[in-house]
Amino acid sequence: MSKPLEGIKIIDFTHVQAGPACTQLLAWFGADVIKVERPGSGDVTRNQLRDIPDADALYFTMLNSNKKSLTLDTKKPEGKEVLEKLIRESDVLVENFGPGALDRMGFSWERLNELNPKMIVASVKGFSDGHHYDDLKVYENVAQCAGGAASTTGFWDGPPTISAAALGDSNTGMHLAIGILTALIGRDKTGKGQKVAVSMQDSVLNLCRVKLRDQQRLERVGYLEEYPQYPHGEFSDVVPRGGNAGGGGQPGWVLKCKGWETDPNAYIYFTIQGHAWEPICKALGKPEWIDDPAYKTAEARQPHIFEIFGTIEGWLADKTKFEAVDILRKFDIPCAPVLTMKELANDPSLRASGTIVEVPHKKRGTYLTVGSPIKFSDMKPEVTASPLLGEHTDEVLASLGYSRQDIFNLHEIKAV
Ligand code: COA
Repeated sequence: MSKPLEGIKIIDFTHVQAGPACTQLLAWFGADVIKVERPGSGDVTRNQLRDIPDADALYFTMLNSNKKSLTLDTKKPEGKEVLEKLIRESDVLVENFGPGALDRMGFSWERLNELNPKMIVASVKGFSDGHHYDDLKVYENVAQCAGGAASTTGFWDGPPTISAAALGDSNTGMHLAIGILTALIGRDKTGKGQKVAVSMQDSVLNLCRVKLRDQQRLERVGYLEEYPQYPHGEFSDVVPRGGNAGGGGQPGWVLKCKGWETDPNAYIYFTIQGHAWEPICKALGKPEWIDDPAYKTAEARQPHIFEIFGTIEGWLADKTKFEAVDILRKFDIPCAPVLTMKELANDPSLRASGTIVEVPHKKRGTYLTVGSPIKFSDMKPEVTASPLLGEHTDEVLASLGYSRQDIFNLHEIKAV
């Protein structure tokens, strides 16, 4: 089956997570992604957190599937020459080097645009161009702090907290992928490439928009009625950490199920959606709550919402998280078990949908990784193994017109 991005050639000058997550997505959808790596070492994640000696770490394999690997020393003149040839025939260059690194290498936007005016140049940086922190190098947790996620995550009596979800890295990569696809469609109309830039701070903030909403509400009325601080606690002039409260109009909380004393994940997330109040009461065996003025409306419930959650926990005490959800789903109540990575890794539905896949790898044997979370009616993205360091160097050089002797010479001087 032909894939929509087949024929799109991408120079993947990315490393660690934010950039590689972007190019991996594009590779799943058919783009020819050539990862350019430093000879001898490659992407730093090949070696980080290794679980098998001498084999690429899962950190690398899970972010670089479906790509080719070309080793190239782009600081050597011969390496620059190869890169220039590649630039002339590529559609997109993606990079997430530290600020100024590409310019120092001699490949500023102006130079790239001169070499190939049709090429799209896509960058991830910690902060946007012109920002007062735009010289900073940034990693995941730094971005979560700078983008507003940390100050609003966690419990009010604890410190700002980092999310396990890669809001700074993979999320920024996803934003960049959208930018690249938009620029490719734009190029079809104008014939011109352009620069696409996404900052990690902006991408985190984009996902924290409801907290920016809350800041404005707080400034106007002085409280936030869906937060646990309401109505008994205090509000300051900044959005507080709301623990496990729901971010929208529906109160929710993480509730204990059978076995919570020994299993740290024996919990469900329970949402008290306004129109589901009657089914909730029926499910819990509390029909008397349906019309009780102290319970009937969301407004009436909020002052004693934790007492209500406590009653629900009493109902959950003899049910596992899975049994509880199986009962509650029949009443149309939005809820889910708190799932562990072990449970997700072995979830038959996720295996069947291709969200979690097993991939054979030349050195590691088979490893588990994520597949495309985006599903199409006319295409099933297939996940293939990440490349070994320099696995496709000779193939890419030959495709650029280098003879066997040229390729030998480039290896000899360690330019590739
Ligand atoms: N051949 C020769 N040199 C190469 C090369 C190649 N194939 N690939 C990279 N390099 C060089 C670069 O030119 C640069 O050299 P210079 O600093 O002398 O100009 C250097 O390797 C890479 O620098 P940098 O990207 O700054 O790496 P770092 O390890 O110091 O910093 C980050 C890592 C992630 C903090 C930094 O890249 C960054 O802030 N990136 C932007 C935000 C981001 O994506 N963060 C990470 C999200 S997972």
